[in-house]
Amino acid sequence: MAKSLSKMTAIIFITFFLSLLFPGNSQTFSRNLPRKSLGLKREKLSHLHFYFHDIVSGRNPTAVRVASANMTNTSATGFGFVAMIDDPLTAGPNLSSKLVGRAQGIYASAALEEVGLLMVLNYAFFEGKYNGSTLSILGRNTVLSPVREMPIVGGSGLFRFARGYAQAKTVWFDVRSGDAVVEYNVYVLHY
Ligand SMILES: *[C@@H]1O[C@H](CO)[C@@H](O)[C@H](O)[C@H]1NC(C)=O
Ligand SMILES: *[C@@H]1O[C@H](CO)[C@@H](O)[C@H](O)[C@H]1NC(C)=O
Ligand SMILES: *[C@@H]1O[C@H](CO)[C@@H](O)[C@H](O)[C@H]1NC(C)=O
Ligand SMILES: *[C@@H]1O[C@H](CO)[C@@H](O)[C@H](O)[C@H]1NC(C)=O
Repeated sequence: MAKSLSKMTAIIFITFFLSLLFPGNSQTFSRNLPRKSLGLKREKLSHLHFYFHDIVSGRNPTAVRVASANMTNTSATGFGFVAMIDDPLTAGPNLSSKLVGRAQGIYASAALEEVGLLMVLNYAFFEGKYNGSTLSILGRNTVLSPVREMPIVGGSGLFRFARGYAQAKTVWFDVRSGDAVVEYNVYVLHY
């Protein structure tokens, strides 16, 4: 009896020390990590500036309506429409200027009383060291306001642990076609 007990104790101890040595193999759900184990040093503040081209007309639109409600057509705010976009982001206001990224995701009319969009977007960047990094935006966009602010809720690559905000200002809008160019100033904290 005493012998099998001590054998059991030994097995428990060995299992415990092995789990410390090989945490990946254990069934541990969560643990604390020092920040430097992920190479996180000092948090930085970056400012990004670019132009967003929302092209809804012509042969090669970058924003297409994918759904709407029966009441969308009669709603003054287009309430209920949903659009999928893959909009180019450029360094200058002209579409032919340098492509720095793309805004990919969904916007939808989510306000009955005024034109207010729900924006659910990933900004995928191609520029320099940011190539392959993304920022995720989730916010409210009252497109007729001079400046709109939307939260940055996260990011990937160089923008891991990102948080911040984006300010959008329409610089050009064609009433007939619906095409628009929007200037973005993004302020983001990341490592
Ligand atoms: C809304 O109007 C457009 C054209 O005016 C029509 O093609 C479309 O079917 C209408 N949609 C609904 C849901 O009624
Ligand atoms: C939308 O309108 C169509 C055509 O008028 C009708 O058949 C359909 O039942 C309506 N849908 C709803 C959810 O009211
Ligand atoms: C954009 O650039 C193209 C080609 O460089 C030029 O033809 C066009 O006039 C420019 N548009 C504006 C609005 O500056
Ligand atoms: C960005 O990265 C992709 C894939 O790694 C590469 O094909 C592309 O040329 C890069 N673009 C720029 C502008 O560096």
